Amino acid sequence: MVADTGPHDTCHTTHLECSETGEHYPADRLHGLSRAGKPLLVRYDLDGIGRAVSKETMAGRPPDMWRWREFLPVQNVEGIVSLGEAVTPLVRLAHSAGQLGARDVIVKDEGRLPTGSFKARGMALAVTMAKHFGVRRIAAPTAGNAGAAAAAYAAAAGMEAFVFTPEDTPEATVREIAFHGARLFRVNGLINQCARIVREGTPTMGWHDLSTLEEPYRIEGKKTMGLELAEQLGWQLPDLIYYPTGGGTGFIGMWKAFEELEAMGWIGAARPRMVAVQSPGCGPIVRAFEAGLDHVAKPWAPVETGIHGVRVPKPLGDRLIMRVIYESNGFASDASDEAAAQARAEIARDDGVHLCPEGALCYAAWKEDLARGRVDRDERVVIFNTANGLKSPMPATTGAVLDCAGPIDYAGL
Ligand SMILES: Cc1ncc(COP(=O)(O)O)c(C=O)c1O
Repeated sequence: MVADTGPHDTCHTTHLECSETGEHYPADRLHGLSRAGKPLLVRYDLDGIGRAVSKETMAGRPPDMWRWREFLPVQNVEGIVSLGEAVTPLVRLAHSAGQLGARDVIVKDEGRLPTGSFKARGMALAVTMAKHFGVRRIAAPTAGNAGAAAAAYAAAAGMEAFVFTPEDTPEATVREIAFHGARLFRVNGLINQCARIVREGTPTMGWHDLSTLEEPYRIEGKKTMGLELAEQLGWQLPDLIYYPTGGGTGFIGMWKAFEELEAMGWIGAARPRMVAVQSPGCGPIVRAFEAGLDHVAKPWAPVETGIHGVRVPKPLGDRLIMRVIYESNGFASDASDEAAAQARAEIARDDGVHLCPEGALCYAAWKEDLARGRVDRDERVVIFNTANGLKSPMPATTGAVLDCAGPIDYAGL
């Protein structure tokens, strides 16, 4: 797909910055982690962006993620690797949340993106940048969805892809990764073991490591969730954002979007409380928050949840995630796998919205937070449905069998 190229295409990146030490790095070459081993953040001339584009410019552009190109480190718009990253809709949960007296519970449905998940945003940008800097081979550890997106965008960019995923990753996603032509490896461990395999293989294989926050561009792609949300809500951010947090790229990216928009004067100082949602079976951020820490002290073990997106024992960006929680006056929350499964079924049945387990986990956590009085039913909440529900197994159904050869007992249906 050809991305729109308007007349205002300029790159406003000034440099990259170590998220821990603040050390600067030049923007004109490919980067991994900083010298301190920490994630790098891309910095921009925000005044320059403000001079190049306005809210009105945005309103007139095609509804895709590249409409935000001035806010992204894209150096060559013609080189964008795109599979059609549409603006994702906001869908109100009128029935299920309405029954709880809450009128403003909104799902941002990221399942509409290429490869059916929000991972498309990060990978579209990471692969675009990698291609720009001449990368021919990428590697990614994944809970599933990031690998599918990496495989698809690598295919679109003509790159070789190696993907490492825990052996119990949902079958639909595993097959999707292989179907896009990636070399797929099922690993008898978790995502951190997959990440280790990628990291240690770099010198031999010469691949570009696309692990969460190991490179600086996935976070910028995910930042578009925050930019998009702000625009969709008329530049008034919601009171709460519930986000299923594994590596935390979207969580950190959205906060960065709000910071940049505020610095440019496009939004005011009112920000949402950011809620990082995890599981009692893998909740390193919840544990750190409850202990008042600014980092994850030790990797979570044993991991006991079937909600794949949050099975990250110790995120590389732990300090950045904690910073967002504290700065936003937010918190970390959790809900059980059972509560998530129940929420997923309830919302599918009552609202017609098919959440992925991670999205359903957020709704279940919000519901418990409401019951506990941690949040208010009058607050506007946005729940991130990070993937298409169809990618995860659904409960088996017995259904009913009809014999089409005989008469149908309609009254008995
Ligand atoms: C469906 C889904 N939701 C949430 C996450 C967690 O995303 P992040 O790494 O941005 O915290 C993942 C990551 O694998 C995922 O696949």
